[in-house]
Amino acid sequence: MARLGSGVNSPTASPRLPRTSASVDIHAHATGGLIRIRFMAPTQPLMPGPPHQPHDNRLVRVAVVTGGGSGIGRAAAIALAREGYDVVVVGRRLDRLQETVALGAREGLRLAAELADVSDPVAVQSLFAGVKAQFGRLDLLFNNAGTSARAVPMEELSYKQWNRVVQTNLTGAFLCTQQAIKLMKTQDPRGGRIINNGSISAHSPRPNSAPYTATKHGMTGLTKSTSLDGRPYDIACGQIDIGNAATDMTEPMKGGVMQASGAVEAEPRIDVEHVARAVVFMASLPLDANVQFMTVMATKMPFIGRG
Ligand SMILES: NC(=O)c1ccc[n+]([C@@H]2O[C@H](COP(=O)([O-])OP(=O)(O)OC[C@H]3O[C@@H](n4cnc5c(N)ncnc54)[C@H](OP(=O)(O)O)[C@@H]3O)[C@@H](O)[C@H]2O)c1
Repeated sequence: MARLGSGVNSPTASPRLPRTSASVDIHAHATGGLIRIRFMAPTQPLMPGPPHQPHDNRLVRVAVVTGGGSGIGRAAAIALAREGYDVVVVGRRLDRLQETVALGAREGLRLAAELADVSDPVAVQSLFAGVKAQFGRLDLLFNNAGTSARAVPMEELSYKQWNRVVQTNLTGAFLCTQQAIKLMKTQDPRGGRIINNGSISAHSPRPNSAPYTATKHGMTGLTKSTSLDGRPYDIACGQIDIGNAATDMTEPMKGGVMQASGAVEAEPRIDVEHVARAVVFMASLPLDANVQFMTVMATKMPFIGRG
């Protein structure tokens, strides 16, 4: 199996390895159905990581960010890499993943890309097997990949449309969590953190959003179960519930989206960097402390106050 950033991400690599921008190089090559992006980028010395990080003496801290080719996933992946993580971004569109890797490479950050559909159990298993083989451990999983269905009355939704959202938002997060737990509970030092991307829709629906709302409520259950079941193994799990970050997904809000009253109104959105900073904060805590739930939302969006 090809190594990601071999010689850079290897657990035995020196954290003080001098890095030069001249070594920036991205190669894509197919390996067993997965396409891996090799990177040799760093231009700065490794950042020491947050002061309360419990494993300061580790040579590498490894994060997997699903949906890392766009929006919140991309911003969070780059923000985590700035904190010193080696970050594997995951998604189905190679060009978008490559863009994230290249954006990070410009700053000398350590990112790598893996093509995987999170709703495919075989692809997910292969993804985490690759992480284990190449990095030896996993410190953080950000279950961020998500999608929604057309905003139509639920009686008009097809089974396929319903299932695509469930498979991505809930089953995908579950499959990644399963694999992450297997790694985290057996690695040395033991443990790690899982951050689930919920939503304001984990609390309250928008009109015609049954699959999205149901899966985001389901995510809250997965978060709580993972917190409880991970407890004996030093695995912390928290959830970030976001309201109206400016990404592809919320683009229609600029033009107006249907409110509970039936009126169509534009809604305020917030810079995705605010979300990335929140994810970094959640990730920065030592494993004996946890942000169980955090809501980051546009101050004036119609949520609090029932509109
Ligand atoms: N933006 C907001 O205000 C907001 C609010 C609440 C919650 N969220 C949540 O935040 C997460 C990210 O959304 P976003 O706003 O950043 O929108 P986005 O840019 O559309 O991001 C969604 C990401 O998920 C990936 N993805 C979708 N299906 C996938 C699959 N089957 N396997 C692997 N990756 C998949 C997509 O990549 P590929 O298409 O390349 O696979 C894409 O990178 C979602 O879970 C969303 O529900 C966002």
